[in-house]
Amino acid sequence: MKKIGVLTSGGDAPGMNAAVRATTLIAAQAGVEVVGILRGYEGLLDRQFRALTRKIGDRLAPTQDVENGAQLGGSILGSARCKAFYEAAGRARGADALKELDGLVVIGGNGSLTGARALCVEHGAKIVGIPASIDNDIGCTSSAIGVDTALNTIVEACDRISDTARAHRRAFIVEVMGRQSGYLCMASAIAAGADAALFREDGRTPAELVKAVADVVRRGFEGDRGKDRILVIKAEGVEIPCTRLAREVEEALTPTLGDVEIRATVLGHVVRGGNPSFLDRMIASRFALGATTALLAGKTNVMTAWQTSSAGGEATQDRSVTLFGLDRVLEETAALLDGTSLVTKHRVGLMQKAAGVLSL
Ligand code: F6P
Repeated sequence: MKKIGVLTSGGDAPGMNAAVRATTLIAAQAGVEVVGILRGYEGLLDRQFRALTRKIGDRLAPTQDVENGAQLGGSILGSARCKAFYEAAGRARGADALKELDGLVVIGGNGSLTGARALCVEHGAKIVGIPASIDNDIGCTSSAIGVDTALNTIVEACDRISDTARAHRRAFIVEVMGRQSGYLCMASAIAAGADAALFREDGRTPAELVKAVADVVRRGFEGDRGKDRILVIKAEGVEIPCTRLAREVEEALTPTLGDVEIRATVLGHVVRGGNPSFLDRMIASRFALGATTALLAGKTNVMTAWQTSSAGGEATQDRSVTLFGLDRVLEETAALLDGTSLVTKHRVGLMQKAAGVLSL
């Protein structure tokens, strides 16, 4: 291969730039030029390409912005969710633009990897995917770029909220991003010392959630237990809005507890920004090593996965990074979200066991 492309697509995730940098370094060292495709598949359709390597004497090196970008959140290439890619005609235009390149590294989540798979299957494109999504909703990998930074941001925000909550002896319901996945909610609830975690995957109705939160607040504030703050983390995928939940819990508690103050905070996009953590920079760089090496060796229609245990997949030179076919990744991603995946069942089971402990 002489020239490859790299793009970031879908919701940005802290660590994407570290993956772009490492992809560029590894390809450059192999004497392969790298072009960045701006704004994901949108930029592919419009052929918005930018050189990420430059010639210095007889060797290639990354451009200055690629080198300096690794510590930044967001995406220096820009990112987008490309509607045209849902249509065969859009993908055909994308495949046509790809003819200028010998291969492509796609850094993104479910939608981006679905687009990558379609380009491989329908047009024989050579693509290796790298999972990036704060939601941790991508199959076959225990983590994706951005998850660790997002969790650190949530935990820090919850610590701050706890300071003010304790000063006023209040209960807070904090909503965190994650789309249909409750992972950020579950993991941050443990780390932030929350009293409860509300996530879509356990299928509780709004009325059940109101009752559950009211019970947790009552137990915490009543009598001898006398907590000075209650923290409930709610996943974005739980449909009842945070403010409505807070109001209904207050109404349910007023007759017995008197005036209880429940406040609602939606963290929203704050969770997605910020400089990547050590772990995200490290995972991103190791994903890029696995992906670029695989692409240059002729692999396609696969994604790098992060393995904390031996969960199968084809080994790379890095024992923590394996390759999975995109078909299997996308099947497992669907199962993670519809609840049939063993991973989801395990997560939900653990959180249901933890529920009593969290609220002690
Ligand atoms: O997938 C990442 C994510 O941040 C989700 O957690 C959230 O639901 C969604 O993207 C928000 O998307 P947008 O930035 O388009 O509002």
